[in-house]
Parts: sequence; structure tokens; C-alpha cells
Amino acid sequence: MSTPAQQPDVKSSRLRYLVAVVITAAATFGIFLLLQNIAERKQEAKQLVFRVVELTEDTIDPAEWGKNYPRQYDSYKKTSDTLRPRFLSSEALPKQLLDVFPSMRLLYAGYPFARDYRAAQGHAHMLSDQDLSPRTLEFNQYGACLHCHASNTKAYKDAGRKAGVPDSKPWEQLQKGFEAICPLPLAEARKLVSHPVACIDCHDPDSLQLRVTRPGFLNGIKEFAKSDAPAPHLPSVTAWRQKKPKEDYDPNQHASRQEMRALVCGQCHVEYYFKGKEKLVTYPWAKGLKIDDIEAYYEEFGFVDWTHEKTKTEMLKAQHPEFEMWSQGIHARNGVACADCHMPYKREGAIKISDHEVRSPMLMVSSSCQICHRASEQEMKDRVAVIQDRNKALVHRTETALVDLIAALESAVRSKAGDDALKKARALHRKSQFRLDFVMAENSMGFHAPQEAARILGEAIDYARQGQIEALKLTKEKK
Ligand code: HEC
Ligand code: HEC
Ligand code: HEC
Ligand code: HEC
Ligand code: HEC
Repeated sequence: MSTPAQQPDVKSSRLRYLVAVVITAAATFGIFLLLQNIAERKQEAKQLVFRVVELTEDTIDPAEWGKNYPRQYDSYKKTSDTLRPRFLSSEALPKQLLDVFPSMRLLYAGYPFARDYRAAQGHAHMLSDQDLSPRTLEFNQYGACLHCHASNTKAYKDAGRKAGVPDSKPWEQLQKGFEAICPLPLAEARKLVSHPVACIDCHDPDSLQLRVTRPGFLNGIKEFAKSDAPAPHLPSVTAWRQKKPKEDYDPNQHASRQEMRALVCGQCHVEYYFKGKEKLVTYPWAKGLKIDDIEAYYEEFGFVDWTHEKTKTEMLKAQHPEFEMWSQGIHARNGVACADCHMPYKREGAIKISDHEVRSPMLMVSSSCQICHRASEQEMKDRVAVIQDRNKALVHRTETALVDLIAALESAVRSKAGDDALKKARALHRKSQFRLDFVMAENSMGFHAPQEAARILGEAIDYARQGQIEALKLTKEKK
């Protein structure tokens, strides 16, 4: 029994004891937490190679891959809400570029692009945006359209197997299936695919190494390697040329990892056309990657995308030549790949992953540009804005010159100048507009190669005014 006088002492010593216990427990718990955290992080780091499911060439569904690589999958899924900063739109479909650049309706007169030409958005939309476009709903299109809008590595292989190429020759099988699917009506080919670009299109399911699987790209880069166009930004092509081996250049065998970080994007972000009745997706690179090389390639067999409704000029249309323009810029020349800016590393817990939410670097300047550039975020944004604003001003100047040329040419046609007389003016229309298009359809708005873009537009303005003079001469002669 304790006396009242003793009570507080016992109480205080008990209290001290309790406090000590609590502190010790808390400290122990703290250390435990720390250890657990370290263990978790180690576990997280291990997860990178920890396989929950077996991935094979038949695993198309990115959700399956996501079980092994949840972080990459999570960021990949986010491309569903990626819009480009300059073309934000509140509608279901992204902004109609024909309303942003009204002269486009005249420039593309007589071509499906005068009906619908939207801003692009994130990868998750690539298949549905194509499905919903009036360019596919109101015009006949082919299976070739799916080459860059779907995960079709397996669909091509299945079709190749059906056509008799055995599984022991996977790349021949892929190529054969591609040839079988390109000429199909789009609606029929559409049933063979179900996902936008997926893990399997850029990664080997076994080793997870980067790979390229688009047959149009494999064929195009092979032809480019055979040319003697300089390739300072692709050292493996230069090395292959020096060795002159019997086998063709094959990026999956010859390219370095850093090169692959650009080539996987070059699979789709390129100029292309559909070759012949077979509608084979073809990249016009046999003479080189510069606009002049591509134009020379098309001129060799007089390729025509469409005949202009107002001037009857046989036109060329360029589409998204990001890879080609990047190839002419200072970043490519310094070995900076698309993935460095568009899929930069980001830290999650103890590990670094490549951000698979492929999007504008302007939405992530610190992880993208500031890895290499010391300037502030605002300064980097400003540098991009300066380039893009200069580019925009030149684009508008070129548009004006072309609109004038089209008007002059249209009156020359109306004044019944003969086709022979019109030839020169039309040739200049074709050259000028292909140049404007090459820069306008390139989605960086000049950034990927500012000086090259300005050079191309300078030529475009000159050709347009020369064409206008030719056309005006004809109208005068007739009067
Ligand atoms: C299988 C073809 C394919 C591959 C491979 C591909 N892309 Fe795309 N990309 C597209 C298509 C198609 C769109 C447009 C989707 C839409 O608008 O619905 C697009 C959209 C984009 C956009 C958003 C465009 C914009 O203007 O807002 C960026 C950025 C982009 N891609 C960069 C890349 C990068 C970087 C790579 C390589 C890591 C890459 N893409 C690989 C086909 C591809
Ligand atoms: C060589 C690869 C490739 C092929 C082949 C291809 N596309 Fe695309 N497509 C892209 C890329 C890359 C983008 C995103 C960049 C852009 O919009 O400029 C895109 C964007 C689009 C868009 C959204 C933007 C817009 O232009 O309105 C539509 C719709 C579209 N493509 C339809 C088609 C149709 C129809 C075909 C067949 C005639 C086709 N694509 C063939 C690569 C391709
Ligand atoms: C040095 C960094 C850098 C490299 C390398 C680079 N890009 Fe870009 N890219 C940019 C910037 C900056 C923009 C402009 C973004 C904007 O205006 O929001 C851009 C724009 C784009 C766009 C339009 C996206 C949008 O949201 O407006 C596409 C598509 C694209 N790049 C694809 C590529 C491809 C494909 C490659 C490689 C062949 C590549 N880029 C290499 C920095 C880079
Ligand atoms: C358009 C091409 C493309 C697609 C599609 C793609 N990746 Fe990647 N992935 C890359 C690139 C580029 C890298 C960087 C590789 C390097 O530097 O070696 C990468 C790296 C990785 C890595 C290595 C670790 C890291 O983060 O750098 C993993 C794991 C990965 N991807 C998983 C996936 C999964 C899972 C999917 C599908 C949900 C997927 N990838 C879809 C291009 C792609
Ligand atoms: C992996 C490194 C790397 C990354 C990432 C990178 N850059 Fe660069 N950048 C360079 C190098 C190297 C040069 C060339 C410097 C030289 O040779 O003078 C350069 C040059 C430039 C130039 C001058 C261009 C010219 O034509 O002279 C601009 C502007 C620029 N970068 C902006 C950016 C922006 C914006 C980003 C992010 C979207 C970016 N860079 C990302 C390495 C990088």
C-alpha cells in the first residue's frame, strides 16, 4: 500500500518509465519503418525485372504487360488525356485546324484534307481518331492507313503465317502479312486490330529491348542506308556503309540503343505514300531524308497525291515528317533522341523510369530540357516560343504567296491558256506547296530544325512568287 506522500513519486517514475517505453517503441518503430522503406524500395527496384506474367509475341494487350511493368503502363495509359498545349480543345475531337488556318481549305482544294484536318492528340486516341475522321468515313481508304495507327505486329504476323511463311522466319512473316493487309479495304483490315500502338510494337517481349516492327520503316531505313546521303546523326548507318556487308542495314541488329530511342518514333512520325495498286506504305527515303531528296524521289516517277481543284496542278502532300526534320537539326547532330525530350526519365520511389506519357516537352520542361540546359524553365519555354513564332510568321507569309499564286493560276486556267503554257507555273505551284506543307505538317512548328524549316519556307515563298509571275504572264498574253 502506498502513502499519499509517496503517490506522486511512484506516479512520476511510472510516467518516466512509460515515456521511456513509448520513446523506445517509437524509435524502434521508426527504425523498423526505415528498414521497411529500404526493403520496399529494394523490392521496387527488383520489380523492374520481376515477372508476374509470361509475355510472348501473342501478348498484344498492354494491360498484361502492365502486370510486369506497372509504372510504365500507368504513364502509357495517361496518353489518353494528352492534348497539345497550343491546340487545347473542349470538344470531343481535337481542334479543327481548317478553322485555325482558313487558307488550308483553298490549299488542299479537292483533297480529303480540305474536309477534315485536326490537331493530333495523345497515342491512346490514334485508332479512334482515325475511325471517326470524315477522311475515313467519307472516302475510300485502305488497310495501309492502320500501319501507324494500331498495334499490328501480331496482325501482320498472323496474316504472314496464313500466307504460308513459317514461324521460323518471323521478319519475313511480318513483311508478308503487311503486304497482305495494306491493300484491304480499311473497314475489313480494321477488324484485325484492336489497340493503339502497344508495348509489343516497341519492345521485344522476351528481353524488353527496344525494337522496330513497322515494315514500312524497316524497308525505308534500309533504302536510306543504301543511299549516299550523309547520316552524321545515325552512326550505325555510316558504319554499315563503311563495312559494306552482304546483308541489308537492319536497325534491330545494327543500331545503338541511343539511336533506337529515336528510331522507334521514326516508325510512324514520317512522310509516307502508298505505293502502287498494292497500297504498300512506303517511306520515300532512297535518296535521303531532306525535303530535296524526297522531292527528287517523287519526281523520278511523277508521283501525284491529288489534282488541285482550282489550278489542276498535280500536287504532293507531306505528312508529319518529324523524323526527317529532327534529322536536320542540332539535337540529332548531338545524339539527342526523340525519347530524351518526349519520354524523359522520371523518378518513382527508388527507381527511374522512362515516362511513357509521350507528349509535348513543354509540359515537362524540367525533366526534358533542363537535364542538359542550365537555363530556367521559363527561359527554355521562351526559346521555344521565339522559334515557333518566327516559324509561324514565315508560314503565314508563304500561305499568302501561295494564295496569290493559286488566284493567278486559276485565272490563267480560266483564260484558256494551254496546258503546255501552264506547265511552268504548275510545276512551281507543286514545288512551293510541298515545301509549305512539309513545314506546316511537321508538328514541332519549326522547333526540331529551325534553320532548315526557315530555308524550306524561303524557297517556298520564292517558288510561289515565280509561279505567280508565270501565271500572270499567261493571262496577259491571252488578253
Ligand atoms: C505506331 C505509330 C506511332 C509510333 C511508334 C509513335 N507515334 Fe506518336 N503518334 C502517332 C499517331 C497516329 C499520333 C496521333 C494520335 C491522334 O491524334 O489520335 C501520335 C501522336 C503523338 C504525339 C502527340 C502529338 C500532338 O501533336 O499532340 C506526340 C508528342 C508523339 N506522338 C510523339 C511520339 C514519340 C516521341 C514517339 C516515340 C517514342 C512516338 N510518337 C511513336 C503514331 C505513332
Ligand atoms: C506513316 C505513318 C502513318 C500512316 C500510314 C497514316 N498515318 Fe495518320 N497519322 C500519323 C501520325 C504520326 C499522326 C499524328 C501527327 C499529325 O497529326 O500530323 C497521324 C494523324 C492522323 C489523324 C489525326 C490528325 C488529322 O490529320 O486530322 C488522322 C485522322 C489520321 N492520321 C488518319 C489517317 C488516314 C485516313 C490514313 C490513311 C490514308 C493515315 N492516317 C495513315 C501517321 C500515319
Ligand atoms: C530537343 C528536344 C526534342 C527532340 C530531340 C525531339 N523533339 Fe519533338 N518536340 C520538341 C518540342 C520542344 C516540341 C514543341 C512542343 C510544343 O509546341 O508544345 C516538339 C513537338 C513534337 C510533336 C508535336 C507535339 C505537340 O504536342 O505539339 C511531335 C509529334 C514530336 N515533337 C515528335 C518528335 C519525334 C518523332 C522526334 C524524333 C524523331 C522528336 N520529336 C524529337 C522537342 C523535341
Ligand atoms: C513508342 C514506343 C514505346 C511503346 C509503345 C512502349 N515503350 Fe517502353 N520504352 C520505350 C523507350 C524509348 C524506352 C527507353 C528505352 C531505353 O532507353 O533503352 C522504353 C523503356 C521501357 C522500359 C525500361 C525501363 C524504363 O522505364 O526506361 C520498360 C520496362 C518499358 N519501356 C515498358 C513498356 C510497357 C509495359 C509498355 C506498354 C504499356 C511500353 N513500354 C510501351 C518506348 C516504348
Ligand atoms: C540530351 C541533351 C539535350 C536535351 C534533353 C535538350 N537539349 Fe537542347 N541542345 C542540346 C545540345 C547539345 C545543343 C547544341 C549546343 C551546341 O552545339 O551549341 C542544344 C541546342 C539547343 C538549342 C539551340 C538550337 C539551335 O538550332 O541552335 C535550343 C533552342 C535548345 N537546345 C532547346 C532545347 C529544348 C527546348 C529542350 C527540351 C524540349 C532541349 N533543348 C533538350 C542538348 C540537349
